[in-house]
Amino acid sequence: MKGIVIYDTTYGNTKKIGETIAETLKQSGIEVDLFYVKDVKKLKDYDFLVLGSPTKFGTMSFTIKFFLGKIKSEDWVNKPFAAFDTENPENVEQARLQNKEWSAAEKIAEKLREKKMTEVAPVLKALVVGQKGPIVEGEIERTREYANKLAGELKK
Ligand SMILES: Cc1cc2nc3c(=O)[nH]c(=O)nc-3n(C[C@H](O)[C@H](O)[C@H](O)COP(=O)(O)O)c2cc1C
Repeated sequence: MKGIVIYDTTYGNTKKIGETIAETLKQSGIEVDLFYVKDVKKLKDYDFLVLGSPTKFGTMSFTIKFFLGKIKSEDWVNKPFAAFDTENPENVEQARLQNKEWSAAEKIAEKLREKKMTEVAPVLKALVVGQKGPIVEGEIERTREYANKLAGELKK
């Protein structure tokens, strides 16, 4: 089994979360390639997809949206996926208060479910401060725990 972790990033925070997920999966013995979204050349022949974006205006970045348009359902049907994002703590609180979905990862997951992929983990919303970060304390550890659980699901 070999998967691909893909992220978009402007300031490096989402990259760091993607790297942490990829490293943790590798440590659990799962083969994985890691790519910045604009560097992805080949998308075929992978067994699972982990896709992440910074949250911008309550949704995924334009680059990730464009990239999702290139994911062919026939290549990925029934294959596992997980989605992650970075966003601000206030965003999570606002979404909760208004009972609204205001996160890149939720929107990515929705699109991948439409492509008939199988969601094997709940979305990960990694918290960052403001636009440039840093990543909120404890979030890297939470990402490692998340990726360990994901590894468990992928091995099933
Ligand atoms: C134009 C713009 C819009 C943003 N909109 C939101 C938003 O709606 N909700 C939120 O939580 N964060 C928002 N942010 C903060 C981003 O989530 C933050 O910049 C991002 O997580 C940083 O990731 P990166 O370092 O990978 O670029 C916005 C940032 C920018 C630059």
